[in-house]
Order: sequence, then structure tokens, then C-alpha cells
Amino acid sequence: MSSKRVVITGASGLLGRAVLAAFKNSQWTVLGTSFSRTGEDLVSIDICNHAKTEELIRNFMPNCIVHCAAQRFPDKVDKDLDGTIRLNVEATKNLAVLAAKLGATMIYISTDYVFDGTKPPYSETDTPNPLNTYGKTKLQGEQVTLESSQDHIVLRVPVLYGPVEYIGESAVTVLLQLLFDSESNKLVSDSEIRYPSHVDDIAFICVKLLELKQTNADVKGIFHWGGKESMTKYGMVQDIASVFQLPMSHISPDPNQSQGASRPHNAQL
Ligand SMILES: NC(=O)c1ccc[n+]([C@@H]2O[C@H](COP(=O)([O-])OP(=O)(O)OC[C@H]3O[C@@H](n4cnc5c(N)ncnc54)[C@H](OP(=O)(O)O)[C@@H]3O)[C@@H](O)[C@H]2O)c1
Repeated sequence: MSSKRVVITGASGLLGRAVLAAFKNSQWTVLGTSFSRTGEDLVSIDICNHAKTEELIRNFMPNCIVHCAAQRFPDKVDKDLDGTIRLNVEATKNLAVLAAKLGATMIYISTDYVFDGTKPPYSETDTPNPLNTYGKTKLQGEQVTLESSQDHIVLRVPVLYGPVEYIGESAVTVLLQLLFDSESNKLVSDSEIRYPSHVDDIAFICVKLLELKQTNADVKGIFHWGGKESMTKYGMVQDIASVFQLPMSHISPDPNQSQGASRPHNAQL
């Protein structure tokens, strides 16, 4: 059997779609899973159902798993903490343990939100200190992944953008809506600093990591990757307005910290 067999969880999501395409284009045999969305090439499964997930994965016999599925909207996490722990932590542990039993490497996609954002830039050896519940559950997901096998990989990435199915799917593209709603004046955060990263770049890194892993056992543990350009939300709006040639005189920078779930000020990776 080919040694290039990969399961991608969350393959219907913003990042997972790009990861699925990148592995297919690199001649891997791919099984992509979704939950509520259907689609060609996708198997719909609730990965919180451990027995069904194990059956699906054992039948496919992957030598790699890229685990993208998660609840990643901080405000939704706070509304359903039990469900988030089941998905971000317990389902992750089940996958990581199963991968280890099958001799497969798992990449767990994590986030810059595991850091508190007070002392950027952060290296892979810096101590995480998540400020919000989302970051805490993602850090727990990292821990159960790395405890399950020394061969597993944690890839931390910052805010993502790329092709979207709806404008609010990415924290970057959602800003376009502010430009469309030009009837009323708006304040947009000019406080927290972000490093937006394209999903195709992250997908490329996942393929490269797992291809390198085939010949180099030292490819394991924690990796960071982030875009080079620093921007506040207001800066992103300025760039989007310029690209789409939209007026933004109704939008003003807000120097205050954002409301809602606590977010790191600058968690540059
Ligand atoms: N987006 C960002 O800015 C960002 C930044 C840093 C890190 N990350 C991390 O990157 C990874 C991918 O994020 P994303 O933006 O692609 O997320 P997303 O667009 O919200 O996609 C989440 C995926 O998880 C699936 N899913 C949800 N509940 C599930 C369940 N119970 N069983 C199986 N699958 C389930 C969804 O399936 P359906 O849609 O079919 O229901 C979807 O495919 C996550 O680990 C996230 O923490 C994201």
C-alpha cells in the first residue's frame, strides 16, 4: 500500500479545503472528513463519536492525519464549552492515540492564541499562556497530541484568510462587510496586531512537513508559521478598501482593546 495516505479532518472548513487540495495535487491518497457540510470527496462524520471515527480511519489505514477540525470562534466556544472540549480536546486525543496505534503521524493545527501576546515574537519553546477559553482548549489539544506520540506535530498558525464560502468565514474577509455597510459610521480596532496568513501557504507547509517526515524522523514536535506583514483590523480594512476600490470615510480607527472574549495583543509567531 502507498505510504502517502492522509486523513484530513475539517476538510470542509476554511483551512481544510486548501489542505485537501494541496495533498491531492501532490499525489497523495486522501480521505477528507466534514461534519455538517457535504461535498464530493468528503465523508461526513462527527469526530466526537470515537468508535465511528476509529472504524472509518482504521478502514482507510492512513500513515498521516492532518487534524483541522475544531471550534475556532472564541465567542462560540464560550457559549458551548462542553461541546468545544469534546471537539477541541477529547476528539483530538482520540485521533492522536489512534494515529499512534496505527504508526501514523498526526499534524494538529493550533493557533497563536495559545500565547498571551505580551512578549512577541514567540518561538516554539516559549511557554504558552492562553487568555481565552478557545486558546486554552487548543493548548490542551496540543498537549494530548504530543503526549500520544513523540512523532506527532503541532503547527501553530495565526489568523487565516483565503477563498471563502461566505464572507464571515474568515476574520479577514468579514471586514469587507464593514466597507459594504457604508450607511453608518463605524469604529474598527486599531489595537491588536495580527499576521494574516493564506490557507494555501499553510496547506503547502503541511504537505512539506509530512513529505520530509517520510525520510527524516526528526520532523516532530512544535512548529510555528505566520505571515510577515503585521496589521491591525483597521489596517486590513484599509488594504481591502484599496484592493476593491471602496470608500472608507465612514470607518475610523479604534485605539481601544477589542470587546468580547479576551484576545492577545500581539502573538507574533
Ligand atoms: N481560521 C483561523 O483564522 C484560524 C487561525 C488559527 C488557527 N486556526 C485553526 O485552524 C484549524 C482549521 O480552522 P478553520 O478556520 O478551517 O475552521 P472552520 O472553517 O471553522 O472549519 C472547521 C471544520 O471542523 C469541522 N467540524 C466541526 N465540528 C465537527 C465535528 N463534531 N466532527 C467533525 N468535524 C467537525 C467542520 O465541518 P462542517 O463545516 O462540515 O460542519 C469544518 O470542516 C482549527 O484547528 C483552528 O483552530 C484557525
